[in-house]
Amino acid sequence: MKIGIIVGSLRKGSFNRKLAEISKNIINEGNEAEIIDISYLPFYNQDDDGVNPREEYVKIREELKKYDAYLFFTPEYNRSLAPALKNVIDIGSRDPKGNLWYGKPAAIFSASIGSSGGAMGNHALRQSFVYINLITMNQPEVYISAVHTLFDKDGNLKEDTKTFLEESTRAFVDFAKKHG
Ligand SMILES: Cc1cc2nc3c(=O)[nH]c(=O)nc-3n(C[C@H](O)[C@H](O)[C@H](O)COP(=O)(O)O)c2cc1C
Repeated sequence: MKIGIIVGSLRKGSFNRKLAEISKNIINEGNEAEIIDISYLPFYNQDDDGVNPREEYVKIREELKKYDAYLFFTPEYNRSLAPALKNVIDIGSRDPKGNLWYGKPAAIFSASIGSSGGAMGNHALRQSFVYINLITMNQPEVYISAVHTLFDKDGNLKEDTKTFLEESTRAFVDFAKKHG
């Protein structure tokens, strides 16, 4: 099982990215995971697609096709989704051979500094997943709140949150195997 991890925050110090690294290590214990770089993607423009798609669209589509399942980590931006994630979803959905997400297993884990753990951003993203038919894990739900308080000065994640993240990641691997 090869799982592509996609992080919606592009900033260097992203907490979502730190959580994604932990999940990556867990998945790599018995399967394969990579964090997929989406930072170079321009906003999707249909005029740059079609018979001669722009090179960034070709590159990310080829990369995305290598994976059996996708694990998304997202912040919440102004009570909604992270545009970088919506952008890669849109680009992937317009592959010349069709929507490349179709029927693949997925999960959305969110983290924010607020008290709701990015739940509204998480669910806003999920809305598109229904249409593109990513088969999305319902439980466990992963909303990590006050994420800026959960790492110590050496960058270690608080033990109970780490356990929760590890268990949720393992649940996703099981889900992906069942539905992939
Ligand atoms: C444009 C913007 C909008 C934000 N809106 C929200 C929000 O609606 N809810 C929330 O809990 N945090 C919000 N935040 C704060 C984020 O939770 C915080 O920046 C978090 O660290 C982002 O995730 P990251 O560390 O992975 O970049 C917002 C941050 C930005 C930059």
